[in-house]
Amino acid sequence: MLTRQPSPADLGRNEVHIWQGAVEQTLPSQRSWLSAEETARMERLGTPAARAQFLTGRVILRGVLSRYLGRDPASLEFSFGDYGKPSLEGSTGLEFNLSHSGDEITLALAQSAPVGADVEAWRRLDRLDALAQRCLAPCEYAELERLSSAEKAHGFFRFWVRKEALGKASGRGIVLGLQHCVSSLEGPPLWLDVPADLGTAEDWSLAELPLREGFSAAVTVRAANARFYWGRARIESGGIGFEKLKSLRYSTPDCVLGNAAVDSARYPSR
Ligand SMILES: CC(C)(COP(=O)(O)OP(=O)(O)OC[C@H]1O[C@@H](n2cnc3c(N)ncnc32)[C@H](O)[C@@H]1OP(=O)(O)O)[C@@H](O)C(=O)NCCC(=O)NCCS
Repeated sequence: MLTRQPSPADLGRNEVHIWQGAVEQTLPSQRSWLSAEETARMERLGTPAARAQFLTGRVILRGVLSRYLGRDPASLEFSFGDYGKPSLEGSTGLEFNLSHSGDEITLALAQSAPVGADVEAWRRLDRLDALAQRCLAPCEYAELERLSSAEKAHGFFRFWVRKEALGKASGRGIVLGLQHCVSSLEGPPLWLDVPADLGTAEDWSLAELPLREGFSAAVTVRAANARFYWGRARIESGGIGFEKLKSLRYSTPDCVLGNAAVDSARYPSR
């Protein structure tokens, strides 16, 4: 059941709101929210699937941000960092990052703190070992080596989305130097090391999202001990519908695997 949440006041400092969307195959009327540049970019994309993914991402981005800012979705303007990271024009204090893969969209929001999100649909990786050696820190590679061959690709994607999320929070993406973004798949997600110019690992918080089989996703924010909330946003006629946000926590059995779990005690409806 989607409700008309949230209000802008809901996003506290030291909190991250994560909105998950599903790619709509039919182009919604909200496409009129896109700027001329966004529409032109969408039309240049080669396949209907790529256009649908881009459009849904933009509609969710504009629809969600407009709700937090109390503004018309079509009125929002963006500027771009040196490596292309979009941010809101003007001093709103609201930071965001968008990611899309397959039919999943992930949008993370934070107050005055750099935030990064990455979602990846699992796919066959032909040269997994070479890729892992190039992208993972030695301790991460050793951890991956201890997994069964069936678990290795999944493990790699879990490392990968964390690193991409940190790269995206920094604005530099994969240029950041992925081997220096170090975590462990065991225990609650947290950074063991980050590139020196991003401060210390303790300055950052990290979450994995409990998506369905076939997807990995992570969000990270430059805030110590941040609280993460997660919910679905859906395009509806005339706007965006919001599910109630649920707290992400790490329960004991999942903790062993390092997986995020939704706080089902607080939100029994899930
Ligand atoms: C940009 C990059 C992070 C995208 O990662 P990806 O896994 O392919 O795609 P995702 O779906 O996770 O993220 C794409 C979204 O991230 C945002 N984004 C774009 N550039 C970004 C950046 N440098 N940092 C953070 N977020 C960025 C945009 O909202 C983009 O959405 P859009 O394609 O609908 O505009 C990745 O390609 C990268 O690291 N590139 C290196 C930087 C670079 O070479 N940029 C080229 C321009 S100088």
